[in-house]
Amino acid sequence: MAMITDRTPMYDRNAKYDRPEESDWHKIANPSVERFLKKHNAKTVLDLACGTGGQVFWLAKHGYNVVGADISKGRIRCARIKAKRETMEITFLNGDMRTIKVGKFDAVITMYNAVGHLTKAGFEKAMRNVRDNLNQGGIYIFDIINSNLENELDLDVDNTKKRADGAMAHKIQTCRINRKTGVLTINGAVCLWKVNGDLTVEGPIRWTMQVYNAKQLKDMLSRNGFRVIGQYSLDGSRLLDRRSTEILTVARKI
Ligand SMILES: C[S@@+](CC[C@H](N)C(=O)[O-])C[C@H]1O[C@@H](n2cnc3c(N)ncnc32)[C@H](O)[C@@H]1O
Repeated sequence: MAMITDRTPMYDRNAKYDRPEESDWHKIANPSVERFLKKHNAKTVLDLACGTGGQVFWLAKHGYNVVGADISKGRIRCARIKAKRETMEITFLNGDMRTIKVGKFDAVITMYNAVGHLTKAGFEKAMRNVRDNLNQGGIYIFDIINSNLENELDLDVDNTKKRADGAMAHKIQTCRINRKTGVLTINGAVCLWKVNGDLTVEGPIRWTMQVYNAKQLKDMLSRNGFRVIGQYSLDGSRLLDRRSTEILTVARKI
């Protein structure tokens, strides 16, 4: 069963290597989130799974008043260092999206499959807490891997990449989905060759994620005080039930 904790030690450990501003995923997701915030006239945003600030810095630079929170102390520490380095005054808090109370915001976001680290019951608890942190009529935006996706949830990845610091990283990863429960299990390892020839191996790494289809998300949201405004592919285009990798959901507090 998916645990919230089974990846947190790794998030803490590798926080300093996290460079969301360089990721292809963020280059698609961040403008998409911003378009929906703008469309719904949101000015204040609470990111309840901010990591090292993958959305927070981008949104702050686009004029939003943003607060970030995350369960990983290591990631919050890195986000604060980054804010200092960029001379940006942003509040980062350590806390659990299921329980933390920060205030009332026009929008709450939890991006990059963050809710997949929660059990189904944990996610419903988080939804109620998201609601508590929203103004009346506020919106909740999140993404999660689409459990109806054909083929791609049972796959093996094997690739080698040169990193910005010149080191070579070889990643081997396998994903397996249990279609009945929606639990995705990921097994992997990363070998890192540094420029001076040193080799480090991170892994084996194994974690699980709870993934959902669009209807399940709709039902859960309506049980917990939200009305779904729309469900999309990550880039904001039309959701294709068996083809879209992620479901980007926008829901309003009722
Ligand atoms: C894949 S990262 C995404 C971070 C950030 N949104 C981004 O796009 O770069 C998922 C994040 O969810 C956080 N997380 C997992 N469970 C959480 C919980 N219960 N409460 C708050 N954050 C949680 C992890 O610590 C991690 O930083």
